[in-house]
Amino acid sequence: MKKYSDKVDKIVYGGDYNPEQWPEDIWMEDMRLFKEAGIDIVTLNVFSWAAIQPSEEEYDFSKLDRIMEMVQKNGLKVCLATSTGAHPAWMAKRHPDILRVDFEGRKHKFGGRHNSCPNSPAYQKYSVRLAGKLAERYKDYENIVAWHISNEYGGECYCENCERAFRVWLKEKYQTTRELNRAWNTSFWGHTFYDWDEIVLPNALSEHFEPERSMFQGITLDYRRFNSDSILNCYRMEYDAVKRVTPDIPVTTNLMGFYPALDYQKWGKYMDVVSWDNYPDADAAPAEIAMQHDLMRGVGGGKPFLLMEQTPGVTNWHTYCTLKRPGVMRLWSYQAVAHGADSVMFFQMRRSIGACEKYHSAVIDHVGNGETRVFKEAAALGKELRKLGGELLGAVPNAKAAIYFDWDNWWALNCTAGPTTDLDYKAQVLDYYKALHGLNIPVDFVGAEDCLDKYKLLIAPVLYMTKSGYDEKVRRFVENGGTFITTFFSGIVDEHDLVITGGYPGRLRDILGIWAEEIDALPKDKENRFDYNGKTYPARLLCDLIHPEGAKTLGAYQKDFYAGMPAVTVNEFGKGKAYYVATRSDEQFYRAFLEDVCGECGIGALLESADGIEVTERENENGRFLFLLNHRDSAAEVRVEETCVDLLAGETVGGGTEVKIEGKDVKILRVNQ
Ligand code: GLA
Ligand code: ZN
Repeated sequence: MKKYSDKVDKIVYGGDYNPEQWPEDIWMEDMRLFKEAGIDIVTLNVFSWAAIQPSEEEYDFSKLDRIMEMVQKNGLKVCLATSTGAHPAWMAKRHPDILRVDFEGRKHKFGGRHNSCPNSPAYQKYSVRLAGKLAERYKDYENIVAWHISNEYGGECYCENCERAFRVWLKEKYQTTRELNRAWNTSFWGHTFYDWDEIVLPNALSEHFEPERSMFQGITLDYRRFNSDSILNCYRMEYDAVKRVTPDIPVTTNLMGFYPALDYQKWGKYMDVVSWDNYPDADAAPAEIAMQHDLMRGVGGGKPFLLMEQTPGVTNWHTYCTLKRPGVMRLWSYQAVAHGADSVMFFQMRRSIGACEKYHSAVIDHVGNGETRVFKEAAALGKELRKLGGELLGAVPNAKAAIYFDWDNWWALNCTAGPTTDLDYKAQVLDYYKALHGLNIPVDFVGAEDCLDKYKLLIAPVLYMTKSGYDEKVRRFVENGGTFITTFFSGIVDEHDLVITGGYPGRLRDILGIWAEEIDALPKDKENRFDYNGKTYPARLLCDLIHPEGAKTLGAYQKDFYAGMPAVTVNEFGKGKAYYVATRSDEQFYRAFLEDVCGECGIGALLESADGIEVTERENENGRFLFLLNHRDSAAEVRVEETCVDLLAGETVGGGTEVKIEGKDVKILRVNQ
């Protein structure tokens, strides 16, 4: 893969820097400390809109000019933000259309951030104008390596401008109210719409009985799509504004992993490089963090991504702001790199003194020097990244297994009424991901439009919504020799959340060779059991009651009136196989099951390692790189057959011997060709 920018020759290291919060005499001290810490990139101007634009027609770039000059003089690269993530107070007063209306219908006042209505004419006008002015003003700075549009876009708006825009969006999509009535099944509860103006936004005042759950899924689904598109439109307008002036500078905006409000698979198409902010809970399983990295790589079309933010030590907004233990910042930084990150960046460089982020870590703490544990760990990593150089840039994993993830499916599952309130799509995906992660099998995330040609295995947990054409894609994939796994509550609806009649799992029925007749929901404290390969495992959450129609039963329920009915099946279809897992089980099952399936379809582990030792791989024209990450506190050994160069230690290892990795340590091995 090509590097995201020709201006970089190593994994850039740095992050959000807010000198505007500090007197200028501190800036020089920052420059000195950055050098000491090996910092070579700063993200500037994330929240300076109010400072830059004090009124309607007035712009004042003088401070940013000084900052830009200073960082350039000090050899720093810049990720330049457009500042449109928080609008100025005067703008809110003068143009109230910029203020959002929330789910309950409350019009918000000025405050907080991420607070602009995406369909506000004032927001659109001023944000795009600012982005364009910034591009014009700083276009000749050679050290700008990326544009950072706005900041962590998100949320929803239910204002009248959004309502009007929703109707326009719907009209474009459906053309006629007749088609819209069909798609939303409005003959239910007498909802027939005769005029576009009769349509209102689905929220607490209309269709919702809970923030997620809706009485009319079709309406809610379209609103989710519309809201994501509205915000994407703001991003795209700023994208165009900076691109027009600086066509060669890549553009990004910082995403948030599994973030429900925005369809990142759609967004990824409009980003030159995907970047994201990684803030796991202190006790997050390595697989949970890894899965987010892989998803982010997936939304960027499989290219390397940027780790735009992580805390060097602690956040201020978790319930318990637990410190990152010694070594964890380094370990998680390399974990990001191990999954395809070409940068290691922090929020933030200097800890602020006021408002809600004053207890959020920074490379430079309130004490203001380089004597803190966090600073020293950051400086040590800075040195190492310099040594590591640029060999890895552009390298990506070569996965043979893919997991299907789809925002529409997520939205549809979230807003459904029935069959259970406990179904969490992300958790179902994690079940399968975790098993592959534990087996050291690399995984790509794919969406409905991604090509499946390079994969041997496709796993689509809870493929509830089969978008038109997707069954055909799966059918071809399996016919040509691919292995497909899906689960309970799959193949049920089309893209409008209308049930596909004629028997579940709908259009997937022939591929899977089963008919699912009923779906039983189990409360949290109840379980059934099923057998698989001589062992029994729990059946939880939902149990599909299925009849084989050509599929072979690999395991059957053991209890209740459906004892003896299949819980796991496999169907030979064309040259491939299609598995159906009719219920939710536990970690042991997924591990055993996926080990069997991967073995059968010829997908091997990168290496054998104990649990807690993560193994990944990246590949580019410089070679193949293995990452060994020890998430445990104690040392471990991993047998490496190939002869490799340990890039951090600078020695030759492997060749059929054990490689020792200390607790929380990392090895990056270049495999000798
Ligand atoms: C987000 C934001 C940053 C900062 C951090 C704090 O990632 O983008 O501006 O508020 O959270 O964790
Ligand atoms: Zn709005």
